[in-house]
Amino acid sequence: MTRGTLIAGNWKMNGDSAQIDAFAREVKQAGEDLGADLLVCVPLVYAERMQQGLSGSAVALGAQNLAAEIEPGAFTGEVNGAMLADVGCSHVIVGHSERRALYGETDAVVAAKADAAVAAHLQPIVCVGETLRQREADQTEQVLAAQIAALFAQCERAALARMIVAYEPIWAIGTGRSASPEQSQAVHGFLRGQIAERDATLARSVQLLYGGSVKPDNAAALFAGADVDGALVGGASLKADSFLDIARAAG
Ligand code: 13P
Repeated sequence: MTRGTLIAGNWKMNGDSAQIDAFAREVKQAGEDLGADLLVCVPLVYAERMQQGLSGSAVALGAQNLAAEIEPGAFTGEVNGAMLADVGCSHVIVGHSERRALYGETDAVVAAKADAAVAAHLQPIVCVGETLRQREADQTEQVLAAQIAALFAQCERAALARMIVAYEPIWAIGTGRSASPEQSQAVHGFLRGQIAERDATLARSVQLLYGGSVKPDNAAALFAGADVDGALVGGASLKADSFLDIARAAG
């Protein structure tokens, strides 16, 4: 089963117009077919600017969050999936650990947002991962099993069928300390097994991304894992050269 490789950049709350323009220009100049699907998730105010800058390139546009509400209405400050699709997004990150930790997103909210994404024909990239304390207490599998169980208990069938899962160990995010290739493959194999217990067909097709201090110099070793289908890249996605080097490592 070939699942294809996805390299997704998550800019988080970084960048400005000049950086968006430079990134888009450099990606287009590189102009190569990298053999991986590429996606950038920029702050929403820059989504259209990035979309225009990247037009004609193979890099798709995603969002970092969406409202759990599907219908438009009185939800000040929120943006729904239909709006994201309208400005050209194809994917949306859901349940990033920063949103879970800083904005109180529970498993129920994450499931509702995954459903809302799919209702708007967006592909949700659902993030899971353990804290350092949980890893050190040997609870990694227990935590991940609970996060996968919550998704299957609470998401609609259509959302499960479309989701991408990103394993982002919280201790590896923004720390420069990536999971080792052995650690990431072990967890990805475990996650695929958890999914297989519920849906063997889905387990074979679902893309599992690794995120957490992915850089050009560690990407190839991480991608060597049989169950590692790409990456969700934070800091190294802010510059076209490092983002493209990671994509090249996947090729
Ligand atoms: P870093 O690549 O900066 O560690 O961020 C990972 C991440 O959280 C991507 O969503």
